[in-house]
Amino acid sequence: MYYSEDVIEEVRQQNDIVSVVSGYVKLQRRGSNYFGLCPFHNEKSPSFSVSPGKQMYYCFGCGAGGGVFQFIMEYENYTFPEAVRFLADRVGISLPEEEYSEEAKRARDLKSSVLEINKMAAKFYYYQLRAPQGKRGMDYLRNRGLSDETMKHFGLGYAGQDGSALYRYLKKEGVSDTILKDSGLMQVNERQGMYDKFWNRVIFPIMDINHRVIGFGGRVMGDGKPKYLNSPETVVFDKSRNLYGLNFARVSKEKTLLVCEGYMDVISMHQAGFTNAVASLGTALTSRHASILKRYTDEVILTYDSDEAGVKAALRAIPLLKEAGVSTRVLHMDPYKDPDEFIKALGTEEFRKRIDQAENSFLFELSVMEKSYDMKDPDGKTRFFQAVAGKIAGLELEIERENYIEAVTGRYQISYEGMRRMVLNHLMQGVPTRQAPRPLERRVEKEDGMLKSQRLLLTWLTEYPELYPIVSVYVHPEDFTDELYCEVASMLYDQFEKNELNPARIINHFTEPEQQRTVAQIFNTEVPVDTVREREKAIADTIRRVKKNAVEAKSAKLDPTDIQGLQDLIRAQKGLEDLSKLHISLQQGQNKRDIKSR
Ligand code: CTP
Ligand code: MN
Repeated sequence: MYYSEDVIEEVRQQNDIVSVVSGYVKLQRRGSNYFGLCPFHNEKSPSFSVSPGKQMYYCFGCGAGGGVFQFIMEYENYTFPEAVRFLADRVGISLPEEEYSEEAKRARDLKSSVLEINKMAAKFYYYQLRAPQGKRGMDYLRNRGLSDETMKHFGLGYAGQDGSALYRYLKKEGVSDTILKDSGLMQVNERQGMYDKFWNRVIFPIMDINHRVIGFGGRVMGDGKPKYLNSPETVVFDKSRNLYGLNFARVSKEKTLLVCEGYMDVISMHQAGFTNAVASLGTALTSRHASILKRYTDEVILTYDSDEAGVKAALRAIPLLKEAGVSTRVLHMDPYKDPDEFIKALGTEEFRKRIDQAENSFLFELSVMEKSYDMKDPDGKTRFFQAVAGKIAGLELEIERENYIEAVTGRYQISYEGMRRMVLNHLMQGVPTRQAPRPLERRVEKEDGMLKSQRLLLTWLTEYPELYPIVSVYVHPEDFTDELYCEVASMLYDQFEKNELNPARIINHFTEPEQQRTVAQIFNTEVPVDTVREREKAIADTIRRVKKNAVEAKSAKLDPTDIQGLQDLIRAQKGLEDLSKLHISLQQGQNKRDIKSR
């Protein structure tokens, strides 16, 4: 279903975000905003804010944010059109029957169709498992120690011997072959035509964070091969960005997330009460996974298998997580292979102890390194310590280096002084270390800082519209270095020019949830300043920083033969000098005078 922008805007305007959110979250007024406990992650003190002025919500804890549509989509697991219909209903707006834009409709519809079919298939498998013909699957899962409640919680199911039972069922329900092909649930071959991908397996539905079924895994009930069969990537299933169990883990009370390899590990851990467990499902953890994890936690405990493959996977995951700003510890499972086997053998309490004892990732890396040196041989030992010193020298902060020197001396019987000198030697030689490439890291940090300034400026513009006349003299939409920021800025400036400030409307221009979150973030950035004075100073600083950065970016890109460009640049640089004298006053009307006296 496709609705025009006007219709969507009408629905949005009639649904005040404070009153909509109040239906779900207890809100309290604090200054010009409302605050409450975030419904999208577990917290004890409120970091979830709703701004009546901006008609947006934003959580400073987990980064969830958007307008009234995004709130309903996230809370009720609705698609965008569903949220529009829901909110239209709420205020008694009757929507136009059907507005056509075949292209847009088809793209949107394919996703919802595949989700719809997945839901039907999940229900079908679920029912099969609990019917008499599902006994084999039921016996298998019970044998593995799963309770009925756990099976229900994870929606486990069963695909029987009949290799086209699901196909026939879906056909009977009127699903077309073309969509079935896109669903990933069917195989096609010339002789047999279309038949079920999964048969004679217990079925694990894979859900996204909104509990929508996006794919399936199926396990043989015994030793057959392949052990697991998984849905292929489809329009709704992207393996590099989904984590099994995250739909439950994101609301667990724990501060950390446990990351493991497989379906059964997640399920066993949840059954044992460790509801903060997720799995990357056999595929290596990607940097996308890492940044998704970062949304929910600052610390991950890796509970990978204790075999060589598990160790390798951990060594790969640690730097990716570090890059995303997540610190890592590694849980030791020995003598058991994986969390499922461990918990079955030693129980919950022992597993909890292992969580508490999980090893710091740096020390874990050292113990893996140690294995490739002959520690009984004095030369081997020296080489190992050299390598350790090199690794410590690669750490960014002095305090970090000191702490690790101390930790290493405690562990490996080497004197603190001795290790410290070796580290210093490495530092002085500037020996290239195996740490992440630093210039890149710096650049990322700098970029982050720049974007933060740009976000601040856009937030402040919406909070103090009286700043627009002065800000717009200095900073133009193209001065925002990120494409999305630039787009948002130009829409916002447009609204100012037309005297129709309406930041929530801007969110609806973007279709991807990632983008919508970013827009919400752009309009909800805060710095801890208390007094009006501090605020005025911070605003002026921010304007200068954004402009300076834009000029620098421009001059870096300038073609030296471009005379016009050069002249513009010189003018811009001159403008920067003017800016050093900029003074912002948050009392109405003051800023206009400042412009004239410029
Ligand atoms: N996996 C897969 N295909 C395979 C084997 C494994 O997709 N042929 C993925 C599955 O997501 C599985 C994970 O890798 O859960 C870990 O594999 P493994 O350790 O072999 O399985 P377990 O999770 O221990 O499964 P089980 O306990 O059922 O044997
Ligand atoms: Mn296992």
